[in-house]
Amino acid sequence: MKLSKFGKKFTEHSGINELMVDLNDALNTGNEMLMLGGGAPAHIPEIDAMLRARMTDILNNEREYEAMVGDYDGPCGNTEFIKELAGLFSREFGFDIQPENIALTNGSQSAFFYLFNMFAGEFSNGKKKKVLFPLAPEYIGYSDIGLSEDFFTANKPEIEFLDNRIFKYHINFDSLEITDEIGAMCVSRPTNPTGNVLTNEEIDKLSKIAAENNIPLIIDNAYGTPFPNIIYVDAAPVWNEQTIICMSLSKFGLPSSRTGIIIANSEIIKAVTQMNAIFNLAPGGIGPVIAMELIRSGKIIKLSRDVVRPFYKRKMEKAVALIKKEFEGVNYYIHKPEGAMFLWLWFKDIPITSAELYERLKRDGVLIVPGHYFYPGLNEEWKHKDECIRISYSQNDKIVEKGIKAIGKELKKVYNRAVPM
Ligand SMILES: Cc1ncc(COP(=O)(O)O)c(C=O)c1O
Repeated sequence: MKLSKFGKKFTEHSGINELMVDLNDALNTGNEMLMLGGGAPAHIPEIDAMLRARMTDILNNEREYEAMVGDYDGPCGNTEFIKELAGLFSREFGFDIQPENIALTNGSQSAFFYLFNMFAGEFSNGKKKKVLFPLAPEYIGYSDIGLSEDFFTANKPEIEFLDNRIFKYHINFDSLEITDEIGAMCVSRPTNPTGNVLTNEEIDKLSKIAAENNIPLIIDNAYGTPFPNIIYVDAAPVWNEQTIICMSLSKFGLPSSRTGIIIANSEIIKAVTQMNAIFNLAPGGIGPVIAMELIRSGKIIKLSRDVVRPFYKRKMEKAVALIKKEFEGVNYYIHKPEGAMFLWLWFKDIPITSAELYERLKRDGVLIVPGHYFYPGLNEEWKHKDECIRISYSQNDKIVEKGIKAIGKELKKVYNRAVPM
């Protein structure tokens, strides 16, 4: 097969493809793998039951069902849903937005493809711009979506050591440089992979820097507030003309509906809408119909706060306690778990790379994600990049427990060099 540059670029090995293949093998093929890898959300019984009841209502309402599966939405997405979203964010959080400030996408993953390539890459004056990640490590799913080479740059973090083998990354504002090579900044909040939550002050500071340099600040809110609100510290939803917020229904419990939500100034929304028409005709309409009432009534905020967040918080606490027990004797550190569904584990001075650890664990039937994939744009040599892994605690407790035990066992072998590869 003879491939164009585009064809080659998007068919090469990528971390996100490896992760999604692992995820499918573990969850959908009957393989007995312990899935601590991908970002698949949990099945929360109360949310599943509520979504099933809503689907039954839709099925019993002939007109609603037929419109949901049988009509295209417009290229910006379901108009009524967008109107309700604008109402919810203005009413509850004082966002100065109208429906013209919102567009839907097929999952937020595709929103990043649009936005990054809108603001970075090659410009018609021959100049090239990049997307800057102010705090590395960042989400694996960003790594391969630039249409040109050398597309990202990233800022190395400051590392703060806290008590009890906990550490936390902070943005190093002293080294954050906005040259005219930077087209946009992007942060995930909470951060995938680390579970870090940038403080309101950090977000304000970034927002000011973005305004001074007339570039957008893209905030990836896939796990953030107000929904799904998998966030264990105080964080306020913020929006202004300089900010682009990307949200999703996935981690609330609807990943297969592929519903992403972009909130931005109307010029950006118009551009996204045009791209939707070209790439997709229209975004999928099933998620918006299922979630319509949740948004209209604001119930999605209450459910996220009272059901989703406590569900993941309990799982996080359980996973941390298990690690403390099972990793005794290992030189490990846990990034302060402030949100999302992951623990970011740092094995200081580990004698093998995290990629080798991934292979060994896969052989033992445990899937994790090796840390080196989470540094898009940070090209310098840095031992730390090969010393971390990401594990998810979203799967059922038994799987998480067995997985953590198996990781602890393998790490002890690795540190003691008891068993050669
Ligand atoms: C940080 C982050 N952003 C975006 C996405 C994309 O999610 P979706 O396309 O399902 O909305 C994910 C999925 O895991 C994620 O972890």
